[in-house]
Amino acid sequence: MTDYKSFFDEIKNKVLSLIEEASSIEEITEIKNKYLSKKGEFSVLMSKIREAEDKKAFGEAFNNARNEIEATLEAKLNRFKEEKLNESLKKESVDITLPGNNYKKGIENPFYKVKKEIEDIFVGMGYTVETGPEIDSDKYVFELLNIPKDHPARDMQDTLYIDDTLLLRSHTSSVQAHIMEKAKGKPIKIICPGKTFRRDDDDMTHSHQFAQIEGLVIDKNINLGNLKATLELFAQKMFSKDSKVRFRSSYFPFTEPSVEVDISCFNCHGKGCPTCKGTGWIEILGAGMVHPNVLKMSGYDPEIYSGYAFGVGIERVTMLRYGVDDIRKFYQSDIRFIEEFNKKVEE
Ligand code: PHE
Repeated sequence: MTDYKSFFDEIKNKVLSLIEEASSIEEITEIKNKYLSKKGEFSVLMSKIREAEDKKAFGEAFNNARNEIEATLEAKLNRFKEEKLNESLKKESVDITLPGNNYKKGIENPFYKVKKEIEDIFVGMGYTVETGPEIDSDKYVFELLNIPKDHPARDMQDTLYIDDTLLLRSHTSSVQAHIMEKAKGKPIKIICPGKTFRRDDDDMTHSHQFAQIEGLVIDKNINLGNLKATLELFAQKMFSKDSKVRFRSSYFPFTEPSVEVDISCFNCHGKGCPTCKGTGWIEILGAGMVHPNVLKMSGYDPEIYSGYAFGVGIERVTMLRYGVDDIRKFYQSDIRFIEEFNKKVEE
């Protein structure tokens, strides 16, 4: 055999006509496997080169034929692939003019809205937000706050006990001792929001569970004037630009002096109305200068350091700010209350 060209051309033409007839990617792939794969009918012809007289001419004829088959096959395969892609692009196109699905948007419980507002106000004054445990020990909830066992103040803050020493915290003041322990004698400026639990009758304004935000500042030269200015700024941001703050003498075992804090009525601006029960003032929180014993127990020298603390009820602030009449509404998950509240906020 010397006419290698016509020998290979014959097979080549056969394969080319098969390619010509093929009408799908699958058929082309089948042809490719049958003739051009390693053991394919065309590929194996190369082994005959051993018997060829003119190996160079044989190789050339083989390569030329194979290149032509390959090129034709790839071209057709690519055409099919392109057609398939165009088809699926057409099918999968999205009609952006169709109306979309409507989702019902949830509404935030007012409690969380006000909690965030209070946090923002204090963060704006340079406070950091901390958290503390809801189940805590007698040591942090009472003893380190100058309320030893058998102290009468424990009566008002009776709560649920897990065992002899673990209990549901009755106020967020418990975080004061935790934070002081962590700060190891360094200055402190924090607020801590969280749940509290207390022996309280459940009525329109009281609940056995409610939430407070505790504030604590400890540094050199902190005084009662700083506390008043801070709370006045808070009241002005939260209630009314012209809010004023009034301190009334009070008692907490962990502060000395202790104060009950009133704000001027944001409804009548001091004239007297039902919101302020005719007095022009509304009681809003408890506060005071950190008691020297509390500082000492947590490793601060009261001769060098002083501080103030305050505790404000989140539900109470929300009720005053938005005229909610019953604290229990916060916990009942009644969508009508939340919707009604949202209308009030938008007004
Ligand atoms: N812990 C007090 C309460 O729950 C509030 C308070 C906090 C008072 C900080 C003084 C200082 O009633």
